[in-house]
Amino acid sequence: MPRTSLVLKRIYPVAPRDLERAGTVSTAVRRELLDLGVGADVVRRASIICFEGEMNLVLYSTGGRVILLVEDDRVELLFSDHGPGIADVELASQPGYSTAPDWARELGFGAGLGITNMEQNSDLFKIRSRVGKGTVVRATILRGIPFF
Ligand SMILES: Nc1ncnc2c1ncn2[C@@H]1O[C@H](COP(=O)(O)OP(=O)(O)OP(=O)(O)O)[C@@H](O)[C@H]1O
Ligand SMILES: [Mg+2]
Repeated sequence: MPRTSLVLKRIYPVAPRDLERAGTVSTAVRRELLDLGVGADVVRRASIICFEGEMNLVLYSTGGRVILLVEDDRVELLFSDHGPGIADVELASQPGYSTAPDWARELGFGAGLGITNMEQNSDLFKIRSRVGKGTVVRATILRGIPFF
């Protein structure tokens, strides 16, 4: 028997630079979680993580996708793209570090706090990236409910 069972899986494509649709994935994820009866605090944390991850795909990647996995004991969000990749993940994860272009800063992005925010709202958080290949960000929230 698997350790946990999969309750829901959803895949959302994210187009690069598409600010018109930016935020729609986090809204959809929020809806799915609420419909499943996931606890309010977990939904809140997942929404924050999802918005930041989605925005980073929109602003920096050549396009990617968000995968939502809901299991008995956790909610997992995966953000993957095929480039350009992050040369120094540790540096990019520092609060205040940003390479946001002027057009993004004019819209209020570029504080360099997105990854920090994602990490702070996750129980497990991991970024894997290779320049020229792409980036995968995995954020896990433990639901904190008993299961057996
Ligand atoms: N998917 C990605 N591909 C390539 N680079 C990325 C990706 N996600 C983040 N980065 C890089 O990491 C930096 C830090 O990201 P972070 O989300 O913490 O801050 P920000 O997006 O610059 O500002 P904020 O999120 O506060 O608006 C970005 O400026 C960018 O250089
Ligand atoms: Mg960001």
